[in-house]
Amino acid sequence: MFDDFINEKVADKKEKTQYRTRVVKQSLFQRADTLFFSGNDYLGLANHPAVVGAFAGAAKTYGVGSTASPMLVGYHEPHHALEEAVAEFLGFPRAVIFSCGYMANLGVLSALCGRHDTIFLDRIGHASSIDAVKLSGAKLKRYRHASVEHLADCIQGVSKRRLIVTEGVFGMDGDIAPVPELSALAKETSSGLLVDDAHGFGIIGDGGRGVLSHYSLPADSVDVYLATFGKAFGSYGAFAAGSEVMIDGLVQLARPYMFTTAMPPAIPASVLAGLRVLKEEPWRHSALTDVIAYFSKGAKERKLPILPSITPIQVFMVGESVDAEEAGKRLSALGILVSVIRPPTVPNKTSRLRISLNVSHAHDDLDRLLDALQSLGIRYDAP
Ligand SMILES: Cc1ncc(COP(=O)(O)O)c(C=O)c1O
Repeated sequence: MFDDFINEKVADKKEKTQYRTRVVKQSLFQRADTLFFSGNDYLGLANHPAVVGAFAGAAKTYGVGSTASPMLVGYHEPHHALEEAVAEFLGFPRAVIFSCGYMANLGVLSALCGRHDTIFLDRIGHASSIDAVKLSGAKLKRYRHASVEHLADCIQGVSKRRLIVTEGVFGMDGDIAPVPELSALAKETSSGLLVDDAHGFGIIGDGGRGVLSHYSLPADSVDVYLATFGKAFGSYGAFAAGSEVMIDGLVQLARPYMFTTAMPPAIPASVLAGLRVLKEEPWRHSALTDVIAYFSKGAKERKLPILPSITPIQVFMVGESVDAEEAGKRLSALGILVSVIRPPTVPNKTSRLRISLNVSHAHDDLDRLLDALQSLGIRYDAP
């Protein structure tokens, strides 16, 4: 019954070079000298012995599953301990853990906004925010990327409740949102502000405290600070942090929190271990800073079309999807794995190679990557 419908949709994706294939990760490492510049494990915590040990230990203690929704009997000691630890780490009164970042966005936006409200979303905001707006029923207005002026124009004349949603570190561009100005505008216009710092939490700011710390902003600069454990913490899951009233409200109102099985307790246990590692091994942040600086300097010297970024997300602009796909294949043949990002993840004609740097990259690895990128001979003209 659905075959014609599906075939048509999939054919359209193929025609637009947007058809995606999944590859079993291990099979990517066909060469012994393969270099991996993909994924989001920026600090190398996914395989850290203390993190893996905490995960295994908690699975032994609590079993592999939480066995229920957090509202019933799925909320275990590690969930509670992680909520407290995250709130304390960031200086928020309270936090609540969601199963993943996608669901955290769905939960928060649908809890806070309804069809009479308007959500203002950065033009390159994550798909989970867009889908969350749909679930909430609120009106969606997109403002130009990181443009506080354009956002102010968009807000004018919108009289009902308003929520501004931005990423902290933008996952597909690697730049950092102008949070101080966004926060000032939110306060001036009595709008709410949600910062999704999926890629900044654990990475930027003092000891990895994220984008608010990066700008020395207090916790109450935002209404909700949301971030994930699946990136810098190498694990899985997400949280929202805010005032007592906000977090209690989310627990009561966020259906994607309530009506799903709580994450396995081993996951929050692994993130708690990751938080300890961040404090005990500050060299991880300095090593990452060195990797980023070395790569940026090499890219500048070689005049590569890399977007400005001080984060581990470095973006090599290509343009057309088909060219980005070809560039990814050529790098892969050289034993270098990067992520090829195409529409609809990014706007048309801005297909790119997303290079994810991490603490384990040595200068030699970075030189190999930089030389390979240069050998592509790509000149990018912004649309
Ligand atoms: C900005 C942003 N928000 C939310 C998510 C979703 O997080 P998760 O992978 O935990 O569902 C991502 C992940 O790609 C992201 O980049």
